[in-house]
Amino acid sequence: MRVVDTPGLADDVVGLVLEPADGTPTPSWSPGAHLDLTLPSGLRRQYSLCGTDPRSLMVAVRRLGAASTEIHERVREGDVLHTQGPRTAFPFCGEPRVLLVAGGIGITPIVTMARECATRGLDWHLVYAGRTRASMPFLDELVALAGSRLTLLVDEERERYPSVGEVLGWADADTAVYCCGPTPLLDLVRTARGPVRAPLHYERFAPPPVISGREFDVTLARAGLTLKVPADRSALDVVLDAVPDTPYSCRQGFCGTCRVQVCERAVERRGRAGGPGRPGAREMLLCTDRAEGVGLTVDL
Ligand code: FES
Repeated sequence: MRVVDTPGLADDVVGLVLEPADGTPTPSWSPGAHLDLTLPSGLRRQYSLCGTDPRSLMVAVRRLGAASTEIHERVREGDVLHTQGPRTAFPFCGEPRVLLVAGGIGITPIVTMARECATRGLDWHLVYAGRTRASMPFLDELVALAGSRLTLLVDEERERYPSVGEVLGWADADTAVYCCGPTPLLDLVRTARGPVRAPLHYERFAPPPVISGREFDVTLARAGLTLKVPADRSALDVVLDAVPDTPYSCRQGFCGTCRVQVCERAVERRGRAGGPGRPGAREMLLCTDRAEGVGLTVDL
């Protein structure tokens, strides 16, 4: 797709507005959908779609790590980027009563859900947390859209982290909660939510912690290296220490970018990659899958 505009959306947040380079119609998408972008360096990352114009797709990118820095510094209007999608890994189900919780750039899927709630006339509320007002994209739009349905938690104006009551106070047992943001915010919502009737939907920025992992060895056949994967780390993290250009994207087992061939031994499946990303019988996702026994050998 061709980059047709690069609006500044907040401090250190740039938008990429994209249109099909071959003149075909812009694909449709629904709230919570994301687009896979392959950058000129070959890095591949996923960004939530957050625009309002059906003739184009827009993503918002905060400068935070190698890929987003490349977007800020190298990608310009007129460039053509390889894209895949849109795909929806964080779907909005339109429950009658909805609490939306966003931290920082986690607003990108949530803003599309807020627009959808308003359009459908649902009973909804948004909690939007950030460091400073200037760093929070879509703030003016959301103030106008949500009015009294918005709780704004700005660190700089409060000098403390959001409390459980501030974040979840509006939700009763029948309120569906959608949350996207940094790990501490997600952990707060997940642990404090308790037993309720309505679902919690969330999307992470960071890889999930490894639960009940066992240590194993991963041998990289082509590199001739054997690496120890501790119980609390992923094979991808360990492999990246030794081979920094190993491809990855979501780090959560759904995009399939880190898929590798397994030459020897069995794999304990943990990822949820579907469609083209799904690993075959002799493949593993380095970011989530582990060895079933003491070790395995991969084609890397
Ligand atoms: S990086 Fe996406 S499945 Fe591993």
